[in-house]
Amino acid sequence: MIAHPSTVPVAPRPCGPFKTHRQDAWWGENVFSLVTFALFTVYTIWAVLQNTHYEWGPYLSPFYSPHLTAMFPETFNWVKFSPAFLVIWMPLGFRATCYFCRRVYHRAVFNDPASCAVELPKPINYTGEKAFPFVLLNMHRYFLYLALVLVVFHWSHVWQATQFEDGFHVGLGTLVITLDALFLTLYVFSCHSLRHLIGGRLNHFSKSGCSQAKHTLWSVVSKLNEHHGKYFWISLFAVWAADAYVRLVAMGCLSDFRLF
Ligand code: FES
Repeated sequence: MIAHPSTVPVAPRPCGPFKTHRQDAWWGENVFSLVTFALFTVYTIWAVLQNTHYEWGPYLSPFYSPHLTAMFPETFNWVKFSPAFLVIWMPLGFRATCYFCRRVYHRAVFNDPASCAVELPKPINYTGEKAFPFVLLNMHRYFLYLALVLVVFHWSHVWQATQFEDGFHVGLGTLVITLDALFLTLYVFSCHSLRHLIGGRLNHFSKSGCSQAKHTLWSVVSKLNEHHGKYFWISLFAVWAADAYVRLVAMGCLSDFRLF
């Protein structure tokens, strides 16, 4: 005989910080996120402060993209500091306000909550995104517009990375820079805000102008959106690898391998 759900004994809710009935290693994801964020932050600060070894031959580190001081030397001749500071706030702002990234740092950094069905470390007074500083997270839509422009620049660097002094070639660096552009594109085009921008306001696609085109675009973004978290992490590692590769080649620690 199957017991009625209301008669099944329920284990008492565990009390105390981080107490849970969960048997899995729920904390593993948080440890991974915390360590990765810490290493990435330290590396990024170090890399943008260097102001050197960020380009080699046709390669440019994505941390310095778009390279405004090279594109508009007359306009930016007053810049005496690392040109990365002119642009790095755009991708960092986009990532920091990303809905997936919020989930990651609310869990891994603030433990608010640390995970599903895990007790909070202490009672919190959550104010949502109505008060400073979290109200700034609502700027994600505007960072998305900038990120769409960055995608164009990153693909232009892929083309630029094939233009060697002796003509068109593909080196290992070209592939590394291409992977960065590809995963940045997947990350940006799987964004929740972009999905909402395309179709989120509509109740009926059939009653909107360009309904078929809009629905197709919305379907593609929705499909990508299912993997947004994966693209977040992979694109983070891809941009990290691209900067490290260009830097190591520029410093003479690595030789670029010419594929053809
Ligand atoms: S929600 Fe993650 S990039 Fe927009």
